Amino acid sequence: METHEHTAFVRPLFSRETIRKRVAEIGASISADFREITEENPLCLVVVLKGAFIFAADLVRYIRVPCTIDFLSASSYGKEMISSGDVTIRHALSVQSRHVLLIEDIVDTGLTIQRISALLSAQSPASLGICTLLDKPSERKHPIRIAYSGFTVPDRFIVGYGIDHAEHFRQLPFIGILDS
Ligand code: IMP
Ligand code: MG
Repeated sequence: METHEHTAFVRPLFSRETIRKRVAEIGASISADFREITEENPLCLVVVLKGAFIFAADLVRYIRVPCTIDFLSASSYGKEMISSGDVTIRHALSVQSRHVLLIEDIVDTGLTIQRISALLSAQSPASLGICTLLDKPSERKHPIRIAYSGFTVPDRFIVGYGIDHAEHFRQLPFIGILDS
């Protein structure tokens, strides 16, 4: 595991190489499942900012079917390590009749992704699926169906590979547990 300046309090969980392999597998699964997709109605990837930006950037390079990439922003955490229960969503998307795949960093209670799904469902997409890098099932309060999940994580605070604590640690190339 490589060292990084401020990793003293981050216990490595998934290495750069482990993540790369898993992301490649997810990309292959998505490509297989959406093999019928056409140039006329390409797969619509919707990346949930900010946490999923690195995952999405790596993942799209393993997707072998026509796709477009859009972003929306959702925030439920301030500087706290527990969800505030409030979700603010910003987007300017139009997904009617599109095959939408939401790309998220972590599904924890499920509130954020449930709110985003409800918002986009109201526009009548052709389909709506969820792809998350990490799943923390022990914390689920809002049941949701996840089509693609990278890794299951314990009920600990996770950082790295795009995922932050109070905007820090996003640049770590690995995923780890923040000691508190
Ligand atoms: P949920 O609404 O409770 O499912 O929380 C989802 C969002 O909270 C994720 O998109 C993350 O941005 C954030 N989150 C949840 N768990 C963690 C964590 O362990 N580390 C950093 N962010 C987290
Ligand atoms: Mg997030």
